[in-house]
Order: sequence, then C-alpha cells, then structure tokens
Amino acid sequence: MGGELRFDGKVAIITGAGGGLGRSYALLFGSRGAKVVVNDLGGDAKGEGKSSSAADKVVDEIRSAGGTAVANYDSVENGANIVQTALDNFGRVDILVNNAGILRDRSFARTSDTDWDLVYRVHLRGAFMVTRAAFPVMRQQKYGRIIMTASTSGIYGNFGQANYSAAKLGLLGLSNTVAIEGYKYNIHCNTIAPVGGTRLTEGLLPPDRWEHTKGSVCQSSHGDIVSPEQVRDNWEKIIDFTGSVHPASSQENSALLIGALQEISEKSEVKANPTSSPSAS
Ligand code: NAI
Repeated sequence: MGGELRFDGKVAIITGAGGGLGRSYALLFGSRGAKVVVNDLGGDAKGEGKSSSAADKVVDEIRSAGGTAVANYDSVENGANIVQTALDNFGRVDILVNNAGILRDRSFARTSDTDWDLVYRVHLRGAFMVTRAAFPVMRQQKYGRIIMTASTSGIYGNFGQANYSAAKLGLLGLSNTVAIEGYKYNIHCNTIAPVGGTRLTEGLLPPDRWEHTKGSVCQSSHGDIVSPEQVRDNWEKIIDFTGSVHPASSQENSALLIGALQEISEKSEVKANPTSSPSAS
C-alpha cells in the first residue's frame, strides 16, 4: 500500500466547480497539491443566469486551506477559454474533470427544443469543447487524465430525463473514443456515474445502477469522508465483477446501498438515530 495520493505540480481543471460535486473535487485536488482551475458559470440548476461568485468562493476556500487556484467564469461551451486560463496561470493542463451540468426535466412528449438543446449543449457539447481544447496540450505533454460525468439516468433511462439521459450516455461514447485515441499519448479518459446529494438531486435520490460489483465498503478512519487512498487500496475488490449484481430497479439498488451503509454503520459502531426507531414517539 502506498502513501497519500498527491497531485503536486499537476494542473487540474474542474468544470462546474462552484458547487455540488465539482466543488468537492476542486477542494480535494487543491488539498492534494494540484493547481486548480475552478470553472463555473454560476447560473441556476436549469442553466439560467450567471455569476462569478460561485467560482470565487471555491477559489477562496482552496487558497485559505493553503492551496493554489484560479477562477474561470466561462460556460463550458467556451472550452478554449477555460483551457487558456489554465495555460495563462499555470502553463499546462494535466487533469480535466468534465463535471458541469444542468437539468431541464420534462416528460418526453413535452420536451421543448430549448430543453433539449440547453442540456445537450452544457453536458455533451460543453465536455467536447473543453476536452478538445485540452487534448493537444496533454498530447504534447504526453500526460493527461480526463473524466467524463455520465449518469445512471443515461444507463437506465429515467422519467422526464430524455434530454439528460441522451447527453449523459453520449459522454460515455465520447469518453470511449477519446480513451482509444489518447492511449498512445498517455492520455487516459474514464467515465463516472456519480451519486451525490446536491441541488440537482433534491428529492430524486436514489437512482439505479446498471451492473455493479459487490464493491468494497470504504470508510475514513476519521469517520468523515472516503479517501482516495482507500479507493486505491481496495481497487481490486472494487472492480472485481465476480458475482456482480444486477439491480433491476431503483428499489433493488437502494436495498443494496442500504445494506452497504448498514455494514459501514456496524463497522464503526455508529448507533442508529433513535428518532428513526419504530418505538420512537
Ligand atoms: P450542481 O448543480 O450542484 O453543480 C453543477 C455545477 O455546474 C453548478 O455549480 C453550475 O453552476 C455549473 N454549470 C452549469 N452549467 C454550466 C456551464 N455551462 N458552464 C460552466 N459551469 C456550469 O450539480 P451536481 O449534482 O454537483 O452535478 C455535477 C455533475 O454530476 C453533473 O454533470 C451532473 O449531471 C452529474 N451527476 C450528478 C449526480 C448526483 O447525484 N448529484 C448523479 C449523476 C450525475
């Protein structure tokens, strides 16, 4: 088992890092030594409006913790500007997390041109624009790590998310090809389908899983967050598809998730919240 995973000297662009999951990624990379470009347009969850305050706040958080970060307020559709911010400030781009996203949920028959176009433009076209600008820089460096953000809504479909589902699995296709073309330049491209309690998932959790391994229960010794080292040290188990499970619905998937949470709870001897006990009045 190695020591702490560090990103000293690496430059990481995180799109949509002014809140939610992107903010967590940015703070973590910043705490591990990466120089971070915190990109965020600062609009609302539907993609309307804009503000510089979301990105500025996260930059302040990273700097206050002793890290290095700069803000960029462009939409991901202006991907070249975001990459240029990294080059102007830090001279390279090693890591790109395509995370920015919006939702414009509507049942399929009611999906307007605007609902379709905006979701496609932020998720799929946006990731394309930023990645296309970063790729030649990474190729020249012979180093690059790119993450695309898909969703279980794309994998299974989800009521009211035709636009989002299509864009999200489009990102998987894009990632697969970028990974093939990037391989000989030491550019790796992977796709994640995260789950997180953010403004995009208010009232929606939990979504489904396609097929998944039994995984591994990771818990920080401090009882707060899972560390990248735990993921690394349990990686063989995490990717072991022997006896993989195939939940057919959100409910089945939730049962698996709850089982894993119970395992964590038993391991850490955290007592159940008394207000959730059946005998609580
Ligand atoms: P969030 O709404 O908290 O964060 C998304 C961020 O992207 C916001 O700060 C927003 O201002 C920014 N953004 C939106 N449009 C932008 C644009 N054109 N240019 C630059 N920034 C823009 O959402 P959350 O939940 O953190 O989502 C992050 C990513 O993870 C999204 O791609 C989302 O689709 C994906 N995802 C999230 C899941 C969840 O459980 N939260 C589940 C599956 C996927």
